[in-house]
Amino acid sequence: MSITRWGQCQDVLPLGAMTQVTTEDVYKVLERVTDPELGGNIVELGMVTDVVVDRDGRVEVGIALTIAECPMRGTIEGDTERRVRSLPGVTDVAVVTTAMTKKQRSHVMETARKRARDGAEPTQVAPTTRVIAVSSGKGGVGKSSVSTNLALALDDLGFSVGLLDADIWGFSIPRMLGATEKLVADDDTKLIQPAVVQGVKMVSTGLIIESEETALMWRGLMLSKALEQFLGQVEWGDLDYLIIDMPPGTGDIQMALGRLLPQAEMVVVTTPQKAAQKVAVRVADMARRSYMPIVGVIENMAGFQCDHGKTYDLFGSGGGRILANEISVPLLGSIPLDASVVSGGDEGAPVVRSETETPAAAAFRSLAHALIDVVPPAEDESCTGRIAKLVAQLEDGLESAASG
Ligand SMILES: Nc1ncnc2c1ncn2[C@@H]1O[C@H](COP(=O)(O)OP(=O)(O)OP(=O)(O)O)[C@@H](O)[C@H]1O
Ligand SMILES: [Mg+2]
Repeated sequence: MSITRWGQCQDVLPLGAMTQVTTEDVYKVLERVTDPELGGNIVELGMVTDVVVDRDGRVEVGIALTIAECPMRGTIEGDTERRVRSLPGVTDVAVVTTAMTKKQRSHVMETARKRARDGAEPTQVAPTTRVIAVSSGKGGVGKSSVSTNLALALDDLGFSVGLLDADIWGFSIPRMLGATEKLVADDDTKLIQPAVVQGVKMVSTGLIIESEETALMWRGLMLSKALEQFLGQVEWGDLDYLIIDMPPGTGDIQMALGRLLPQAEMVVVTTPQKAAQKVAVRVADMARRSYMPIVGVIENMAGFQCDHGKTYDLFGSGGGRILANEISVPLLGSIPLDASVVSGGDEGAPVVRSETETPAAAAFRSLAHALIDVVPPAEDESCTGRIAKLVAQLEDGLESAASG
């Protein structure tokens, strides 16, 4: 039973009432919001001061920031809002930020220092890395093509980008990027070095196995552990974005990703067909079970433009917009059906890098811009550097800047 500030008792809601969100639900998703500069989640760091849920599903979250001018303020507010909004039953979210008191600040710094001391980093992915899982409600809609072209378009914009092929046995990224080299581990660190292909750091089962026979041997052994290894034993370094090409379906890999990488968020690829309702239910369920919020929808295989400029909606139209509205997230882009996506993917020369400009290439580029708007990169200073700076600020007595 959960009691809100207004003393409403949720157990007495009539049976069959719309999903009622509880403060516990909210705290659970807030554990997925990390303070990139302190490297911990805002709940364990003691930054969440208050959570209030009213019976109409409106949620108010109080967050105390280390300093009023915290450079991470926008990121933390935005992440909090998206995470809470992803809960079924939430109708509105308000995030109220305040500056910590001196006592709160020394407590939070102590927790952050303890975390850093314990070195409890479960993965090699930096907390400042924005992790985007490219998912879908059904197979074959273009997740791998989108992941590859999006990663390259982000790299073209000057970001440091990783691309993880999480489709462990249905891998297609090596072919799409034209990568053939095998992955090796560093002698000293024993960490797997990602292949650097066309400017992007990439890891795929396709770069490990020797042949179909070895694949069969590895299959049983590795499936459950593969993602964990790709996140925990690959030297990813300081990435701005890690794009993850998810396997079709809504299974274990999604749940494992949500568990291993709390900062992971999801984009959903869909076709222009109007069967959005079914897909919406499936992806919303996937997001809920993996605790990954959906940041936007990408429509793929939209209107085909012939050489005379006429557009043919071979797979219908409007499905992306309908799905986006249905799950209340932005439509980040619409990629047209374009033969160059197929040939580019087959030849290891993705359209965004092809010499001739195509409608699909242009659409992938504007998709990258739309994603950056919604999920901006965290500042690229290292976490440890930021902690050191904050500690120094505190210890040097620069308290006036902090009191806000
Ligand atoms: N915009 C597009 N225009 C034309 N063909 C496309 C487009 N996007 C993807 N394709 C083609 O559709 C097929 C499926 O794409 P892709 O492999 O990227 O889908 P997927 O969702 O990753 O599939 P799976 O669920 O099997 O992993 C590929 O042959 C690809 O080249
Ligand atoms: Mg795929």
